[in-house]
Amino acid sequence: MNSFKTIKLAIIGIGSVGSSVLKIFQKNKKIIEEKCGCRIEIKTVCDKDPSKQKLIFNGTKFTTNYNEVLKDPEIDIVVELIGGIHPAYEIISESVKYGKHIVTANKAVLSEHWDKIFLLANKYNKTIYFEAAVAAGIPVIQSLNEGLAGNNILSITGILNGTTNYILSLMTQQKCSFDTALKRIQNLGIAEADVSYDISGYDTACKLSILSSLGYSSWVKLKDIFIEGIEDIELQDIFFAESFGYKIKLLGHSGIYKNKYFFEVRKFLVPKNSVFANINNEYNGILIEGSNCGKIFFAGKGAGGFAAASAVVSDIICIAKDIINAVGGRAQYVEYIPKKLDILNIKENEGYFYLRFITLDKAGVLAKIANILGRYNVSIASVYQKEPLLKLRRGVPIILLTHKTKEKNLISAIKKIKNLDVVLKPSVYIKIFSE
Ligand code: HSE
Repeated sequence: MNSFKTIKLAIIGIGSVGSSVLKIFQKNKKIIEEKCGCRIEIKTVCDKDPSKQKLIFNGTKFTTNYNEVLKDPEIDIVVELIGGIHPAYEIISESVKYGKHIVTANKAVLSEHWDKIFLLANKYNKTIYFEAAVAAGIPVIQSLNEGLAGNNILSITGILNGTTNYILSLMTQQKCSFDTALKRIQNLGIAEADVSYDISGYDTACKLSILSSLGYSSWVKLKDIFIEGIEDIELQDIFFAESFGYKIKLLGHSGIYKNKYFFEVRKFLVPKNSVFANINNEYNGILIEGSNCGKIFFAGKGAGGFAAASAVVSDIICIAKDIINAVGGRAQYVEYIPKKLDILNIKENEGYFYLRFITLDKAGVLAKIANILGRYNVSIASVYQKEPLLKLRRGVPIILLTHKTKEKNLISAIKKIKNLDVVLKPSVYIKIFSE
């Protein structure tokens, strides 16, 4: 232990993660210091809400003005936990310019400004650690960045959002509606301040962008990711999927198809024997395929104050050790490489699909649908006419599973099917995940 040196931190943002970090320090300070090899002090805590002052202890200073932190020459590490893009981006970049290392849990700012943030860190020889930005307590960033560095990464797929996974788990297990499930999870401290970031797939896309940028050594921008959320999920599809041996999960999925990279966030039917099928509630699961290591699966709590704080505290320890050993910022944690990937439009990709139509219950309906699908080269693997979950006033559900098909062709066929007079409601199609 270097008892002459004290590393000083400032924490900006005392929400569920920030307050958990404070509690961990309160409880485990001695163990943390042993791991760092030096003394460690939370010098300042900053939050725009003055009532958060009641959470601090042992002479830590409180401020509502983050500029005080940035300009304090004694602060070695700024821990940014406010989330969102502004003023988080300004806090991170100004802190680096003022000579501070950064720990952040902020997936939005990293996915939006990956290039600028890492170029700046490089220029000022500062380190930016961000383990908590993806999958909270699961050390997937370090694994991808360091442990799997000896591989070409071939695919990255994950349940990356605890909130949507909790909603889908409740709908599956308790057959409750989307709205009921959403209400039930809103007080658990896992959803974003604006829950639409979770349910629209945006949060998953930010995390997929970060993992892919590390894995494929090129900044994968949000605009290159096809993003669909779970807002339109219907209980009947969960129910039908189950009856065929599948569960519905929101996955961030990326990989290589015909030498091009693809990135998508969408609902998938996952087979019940898939590694993803039993990842429930706020848990996340990530499957990474490397050219040499094969497939590796990570699972654990992907949301929640303490799960994320676990990663934040680990990052603080890593940086503190680097500072003590006088290597902090000398080697970049992430090199920004201005390489362009060849990106595939997701609709050009092929996949297997689940289709649901609500149609009149009369002879010849299936033939009409099958005829259009055939014209667009969509081949049917199986057909089911299921009892509706709730009695419909008019119509019956017809469920089809397809063979491998180009999504573009399927969309064209569905557009035509919509115009059939026997089809009563908009059709639903969901991709099927195959490992
Ligand atoms: N709202 C996020 C989630 C928090 O539900 O996964 C963790 O990033």
